[in-house]
Amino acid sequence: MLKVRDLHVYYGVIHAVKGITFDVPEGKIVTLIGANGAGKSSTLKAVAGLVKPKGHIQFLGHEMVGRSAHKIARRGAALVPEGRHVFVNLTILENLRMGGFNKKRSELEPLYEKAFEMFPILKERANQKAGTLSGGEQQMLALARALMSEPSLLMLDEPSLGLAPKIVSEVFDIVKMLNSKGMTVLLVEQNAAQALKIAHYAYVLENGTITLEGNAKELLNNEDVRKSYLGEM
Ligand SMILES: Nc1ncnc2c1ncn2[C@@H]1O[C@H](COP(=O)(O)OP(=O)(O)OP(=O)(O)O)[C@@H](O)[C@H]1O
Ligand SMILES: [Mg+2]
Repeated sequence: MLKVRDLHVYYGVIHAVKGITFDVPEGKIVTLIGANGAGKSSTLKAVAGLVKPKGHIQFLGHEMVGRSAHKIARRGAALVPEGRHVFVNLTILENLRMGGFNKKRSELEPLYEKAFEMFPILKERANQKAGTLSGGEQQMLALARALMSEPSLLMLDEPSLGLAPKIVSEVFDIVKMLNSKGMTVLLVEQNAAQALKIAHYAYVLENGTITLEGNAKELLNNEDVRKSYLGEM
């Protein structure tokens, strides 16, 4: 579904992503793991069209480099950004409405119903401002908002960031459930243990370069990964 080839991201003189190549096959969960500053967010932003990269990003057979973020979103790639970024002064319903930017008015109602079924808390609080939600609930809203556009590729930037362990498990369970229903997922995480448990395939990103890749189960058992990313001695 997504083929990234020799991708580079620059911020002025900073070379944040240094020629990485990876694939996200349809129906799979692929994870990019790596420490602070490795280039994970920059990679997702490049795919979503939020930064202008060099190289090639083929999504559903079409070149995305040079296209606007809006066009890429319309093609069906949705990003849940790091730090969630829900609209705190809008209600939960209004936030969901924004996610359904590509839908006709008549198409929205069943999508709200679907979101509320998956995230009952959002239904209870539908007319409250998103800023009143807890961090975990905001993450659920950010996820629900991204799903409103019915994307074919869901990109998640550190969905576990700043959440209590129980909530992290809930978020990952939802991602797994979405994938079991056919959603293709590109998951970026510092929480390597959790990410590797639900992913099919994984890439390790260090200083803007992919240093290791393999089946997620293999990486979970890899000595170097265990030492560097799973906090084992
Ligand atoms: N807008 C920017 N301007 C300048 N440098 C940037 C900008 N955004 C990111 N960088 C730099 O690019 C590098 C990669 O950053 P990026 O945010 O992609 O890393 P990350 O892997 O997502 O890290 P984290 O786990 O902390 O979110 C870092 O050195 C960062 O300081
Ligand atoms: Mg990041």
